[in-house]
Amino acid sequence: MASISSVTRNRTQVAIVGAGPAGLMLSHLLAREGIESVVLESRSRADVEATVRAGVLEQTTVDLLHDTGVGDRMLREGSVHHGIELRFDGQGHRIPLSDLTGGRAITLYAQHEVIRDLIAARLAADGDIRFEVADLSVHDFDTHRPFVRYVAEGRNAETACDFIVGCDGYHGVCRSTVPLAARREYEHVYPFGWFGILVEAPPYAPELIYAHHERGFSLVSTRSHEVQRLYLQCDPEDGIERWPDKRIWTELEARLATGTEEPLYRARIFQKVVIQMRSFVVEPMRFGSLFLAGDAAHIVPPAGAKGLNLAVADVTVLAHALALRYATGSEEALERYSDVALERVWAAQQFSWWMTSMLHRFGDHDPLQQRLQRAQLQGIARSSALQTALAERYVGLQLGLTKLEGAARPSRAPETRSPVGARQA
Ligand code: FAD
Ligand code: DHB
Repeated sequence: MASISSVTRNRTQVAIVGAGPAGLMLSHLLAREGIESVVLESRSRADVEATVRAGVLEQTTVDLLHDTGVGDRMLREGSVHHGIELRFDGQGHRIPLSDLTGGRAITLYAQHEVIRDLIAARLAADGDIRFEVADLSVHDFDTHRPFVRYVAEGRNAETACDFIVGCDGYHGVCRSTVPLAARREYEHVYPFGWFGILVEAPPYAPELIYAHHERGFSLVSTRSHEVQRLYLQCDPEDGIERWPDKRIWTELEARLATGTEEPLYRARIFQKVVIQMRSFVVEPMRFGSLFLAGDAAHIVPPAGAKGLNLAVADVTVLAHALALRYATGSEEALERYSDVALERVWAAQQFSWWMTSMLHRFGDHDPLQQRLQRAQLQGIARSSALQTALAERYVGLQLGLTKLEGAARPSRAPETRSPVGARQA
């Protein structure tokens, strides 16, 4: 261990833990408001940029990336989808998302590409991102003088700041540092997981297919003209060795069969992963000078494609509140952050839980529950009102930034840019 005298000390306004979508986007939005931040990340840049995860961006996320100058590649390379397919009983039913939501859509663009774009933008703007920091801990966040301690390039370091934001994911240190008595956690672990693959093939379908089948759920998604993303409901304890390629293709063909299609093109599978499934929320999302955002504060099961979008929504609200705090000196908007964010988080939790329960095969369902599940799917296939309810939540709720205001408003000249994301309020 280095001695106390060799501690490198520095100061910033906002110390951000984690360079996932939440942390990077927050740092980007704050910089646009002239607020200084440091992003502290335990993994290497190469690792962060290569981790394959989400792929569906809501309209609100797409607009925000575009409006804040980090959306050029997404607009060039992402693909816009105006509908999704629900498939059950061997039949597909299209949900025309855009027709039902006044033209809103989703964009398929991989999370690690968003990460690459954000890192490039932050570094081009001389932003401070420190990769491969170790032993990070957060301190004194019950005061106005919090700080973060860590080891960077083999040296002990401390960053003093006004606020710490924990964007360090579900397994991060920020949430777990908050005393148990100060937080309330809600959690449900599902009895199944998703087996995800990446395949070297042209798209299998023009739009995403969410398929319910007695053998289990499956999902056909895409990444590009050359790479496809598919998922199969599996046992959460499965190791990837239990899923040789032949079993994967046989299961996908059985679960997606309509009786009229060509057999799936069995191309090279170059990545396999098992994803556990849980619903989780911590309340509140603020503890003194420490704020939580993204997966550090909540996890949704992936059937609603909400995780990345919620992370971006949280930090949009938080950046807006911090901008108001630095512009006016009032903490009122920061005090509302947790309530404003949690309202959206619970709406997304409800949607993700609903999609999960409607689409998956539950081992403990009795025949009556199975028929009810099918009746629900049939109801959606038949009713444009139910399809609209699904579509509105799938393409994403508006941000509700105006709920932060009322009290504090920055004393800016009218011609200056309004705080981040205000366009979506
Ligand atoms: P993370 O992405 O988890 O980032 C946290 C960062 O903090 C990491 O880089 C981590 O290394 C770092 N960190 C952790 N601990 C420390 C520490 N002690 N010190 C420093 N750094 C630390 N969401 C969608 O919206 N749409 C989808 O289609 C979708 N599909 C998904 C598919 C899969 C397979 C998975 C796994 C997830 C999917 N999600 C989806 C969810 C989405 O990926 C997450 O919700 C999103 O990554 C959350 O972003 P985040 O920045 O909050 O956290
Ligand atoms: C993808 C992931 C999801 O969770 C989802 O609901 C749709 C698509 C994807 O990775 O492409």
